[in-house]
Amino acid sequence: MSSSPLSPPSVQEVHVWQWDLDVCASDFERYWEMLSAQEHERADNFRFERHRRRYVTGRGVLRQILGRYLAHSPQAVALEYGAEGKPFCTSQPAGWTICFNLSHSENTAALAISSGFEVGIDVEHVRPIEESMPLQVFSTREREQFDALSDAERQAVFFETWARKEACLKALGTGFILPPEHFEFDLSVHGDTAPRFVGGDAEESTHWRIRALSPSPTCAGAVAARHTGWSIINMN
Ligand SMILES: CC(C)(COP(=O)(O)OP(=O)(O)OC[C@H]1O[C@@H](n2cnc3c(N)ncnc32)[C@H](O)[C@@H]1OP(=O)(O)O)[C@@H](O)C(=O)NCCC(=O)NCCS
Repeated sequence: MSSSPLSPPSVQEVHVWQWDLDVCASDFERYWEMLSAQEHERADNFRFERHRRRYVTGRGVLRQILGRYLAHSPQAVALEYGAEGKPFCTSQPAGWTICFNLSHSENTAALAISSGFEVGIDVEHVRPIEESMPLQVFSTREREQFDALSDAERQAVFFETWARKEACLKALGTGFILPPEHFEFDLSVHGDTAPRFVGGDAEESTHWRIRALSPSPTCAGAVAARHTGWSIINMN
């Protein structure tokens, strides 16, 4: 990956980067060197080697990209964490407010970068739906729409909706401390959208925009922000 400097996104943009987390040994070694002591410790706590390697590659590429925006080396990018674990970068140039959010599913990683407003991103490899999943994820209204779908439609709609909800909860920084039905969607709308209700409030939903991501034919994805009038710029 290039190390040339990058300009921050404008308020009408969210930069989206995507990469493969399964890399060769020499790239892995390079990413390992970019991580902090705290990240090394976390990497060493993974039970499975594949998960350890993917975490290191995710954090390494994240640091490399953030470093290009902030004009720091990857090692010098300073990360702190919100109350529910959302990472953010400190030590930005005066007046800069770069926000980011990372997501990974299997070997796919995606990173959203915004400036001046919080962003959330989620990617989900499409897989079989367990029986309990719709009950855990959907509101009563959403479940009625879901139940009316054909079997052929259900899997794609389920993961599209899940990615939207998780992206919104990650934009807020709460993750699943809030229930998934906090953000409620119209399941008949595909692609870019806005929630119908946020915490039961229709007015609050008008402040949100969700853009669809299609990292691959087997992956669903979404980017969310409590901010209107922005579009995705694909940076790959
Ligand atoms: C945030 C959350 C939805 C992510 O779930 P996941 O299945 O790991 O999903 P993703 O791959 O999309 O996201 C992971 C990335 O999101 C970021 N992240 C972590 N916590 C986050 C949060 N609260 N909000 C937004 N992003 C968060 C991290 O960059 C993380 O990747 P990394 O650890 O490799 O850097 C889930 O961990 C959650 O609900 N957390 C909040 C509740 C909680 O556990 N709090 C206690 C921790 S202090």
